Amino acid sequence: MYADRDVTAQLNARGDVAVVVPAAGAGVRLGPGAPKALRLLDGEPLLVHAVRRLAAAPSVRMIVVAAPPADVDAVHALLAPVAPVTVVPGGAERQESVAAALAVVPDEVAIVLVHDAARCLTPPSVVERVAAAVRSGADAVIPVLPVVDTIKEVAADDTVLGTVDRSVLRAVQTPQGFRASVLRAAHRAAADLHTDDAGAVEKLGRPVLCVPGSDLALKITRPIDLALATHLLALPDPDA
Ligand code: CTP
Ligand code: MG
Repeated sequence: MYADRDVTAQLNARGDVAVVVPAAGAGVRLGPGAPKALRLLDGEPLLVHAVRRLAAAPSVRMIVVAAPPADVDAVHALLAPVAPVTVVPGGAERQESVAAALAVVPDEVAIVLVHDAARCLTPPSVVERVAAAVRSGADAVIPVLPVVDTIKEVAADDTVLGTVDRSVLRAVQTPQGFRASVLRAAHRAAADLHTDDAGAVEKLGRPVLCVPGSDLALKITRPIDLALATHLLALPDPDA
């Protein structure tokens, strides 16, 4: 007699990283429809694309998804064939969704990454790059891209106040990586809402390190992003 082998994709039990995936947003800017993480890209929900790429990163040993509260069971069923995941109900704000997912990450996991489901085409190599920088000693790590547009500071009456030096600016993506204790401390200390988790670490006065991000890690926000992502899917695998 032998037990059936588990056909579900496995995560690396020897990995040292838990990834928290906020996926509970409505996707208002994408227009009417299902919650954004469940909208389809090339026939599959954004969340499936995101989790498949996270599960392909060798450092990842645990994935916790914060789902729209009404869809927790559906999300669990959807992801079961993709990777072993824990699914918790998200909150009304992204920060609450992250906190809910972080709460079920066991204390012994040393590195936590926070990754938007909406950045569903982020290559596993970016996940590994962020995790490696935390493993090497950084408290907090963010993937970034240079800013390509000229950026102006503008007054309330639409007159230009000045041109910002673009060379010192970076556009910030996810996954953002943290020593677990630092992320927990930042969340505990956060009095106001923050749009990214590294911002909460900055408020603690701790250093945040930048590593290169990826054009593929764009956030699906508006309908045009979904159209762009459809074309990006057809490109050769950047990690192949
Ligand atoms: N998110 C979440 N819980 C919330 C709000 C957002 O988990 N209460 C997640 C989203 O699902 C997304 C990520 O945070 O993966 C980034 O947020 P955003 O791109 O703003 O997504 P939405 O809030 O869904 O979009 P919108 O702001 O257009 O409604
Ligand atoms: Mg939002």
